[in-house]
Amino acid sequence: MQHFLKETDLTVNQAAEVFSLAHALKQGRGKHTPPTLKGQTWAMIFSKSSTRTRVSFDVGIHELGGHPIFLNKNDIQLGRGESIYDTANVLSRFVHGLIIRTYDQSEIEEMSKLGSIPVINALTDYLHPCQIYTDAFSMAERWADGTNFMESLKGKKLAYFGDTANNMANSWILGAAMFGMELVLSGPEGYEPGEDIKATLAESGHAPTWSFTTDPEAAAKDADVLYTDTWVSMGQEEESAERIAAMKPYSVTSDLMKLGKSDALFMHDLPAYKGMEVQEDVLYGKQSIIFDEAENRLHTQKAIMSVLAEANKR
Ligand code: CP
Ligand code: NVA
Repeated sequence: MQHFLKETDLTVNQAAEVFSLAHALKQGRGKHTPPTLKGQTWAMIFSKSSTRTRVSFDVGIHELGGHPIFLNKNDIQLGRGESIYDTANVLSRFVHGLIIRTYDQSEIEEMSKLGSIPVINALTDYLHPCQIYTDAFSMAERWADGTNFMESLKGKKLAYFGDTANNMANSWILGAAMFGMELVLSGPEGYEPGEDIKATLAESGHAPTWSFTTDPEAAAKDADVLYTDTWVSMGQEEESAERIAAMKPYSVTSDLMKLGKSDALFMHDLPAYKGMEVQEDVLYGKQSIIFDEAENRLHTQKAIMSVLAEANKR
């Protein structure tokens, strides 16, 4: 049974297939969508807030011919302490796939060990792989000629600013290595990537393509993409004041954008906090592709579910 708990759970060939299929699904939306989830019901268990992930999966499952069930953790017995093992065991008797947003990566790993239905990571404290695949597709649809999506990413420089120890930074460490991109993470001392993500990358067999600098200008120089995420992730609210003070020098401003390539893209997974990790003129500026990026969650996740469905038939 193949799952999607981290970027490197798919092969490079499958990732390339996800990009091509996402493109085809985007072009064909409303005209022809292969019903790869026909007759299937997928459950979405969410322990944290969500706008994009929740809605794009709900719509995506429906468009692939399946039926989505949204389960807020607090509405099911999981929220009252029923174990993950029992929950997964019971749900696996009803549904054909699970999409989970939670805190610990170990929770989704535990759910996947049941082995009878595929599990997709819809964000944990550790990783956000659906977002990284979507972001890579969003760049590639600009850089590729309609076919060579994976190849178009190779050698491109992605500069990531702010919280370089969160789920998005970790996910980019894995994604950049898989897609052959150069990743420069720029944040304050004390927020360098941890040993856990270095170990996960080493286990995957992909060579590291990332570096870390406390100098945001050096990171931005000649970048193809300037990327940022919130400084205070879900669950870190009590650390807000210290995080905002530490990360202030890493806000993406129009001056920082000027150091990147003249056609550099600005990207953000959203939700964005204007005046914090990004200034409003950059967020809504002509180099920003934030709303295409958000839309592409739908097409990319439909492609991920279809590629998994195909792999799990074998
Ligand atoms: N980017 C993202 O995952 O957004 P949501 O939290 O709204 O799902
Ligand atoms: N790092 C953010 C991403 C939100 C999509 C968080 O975990 O809250």
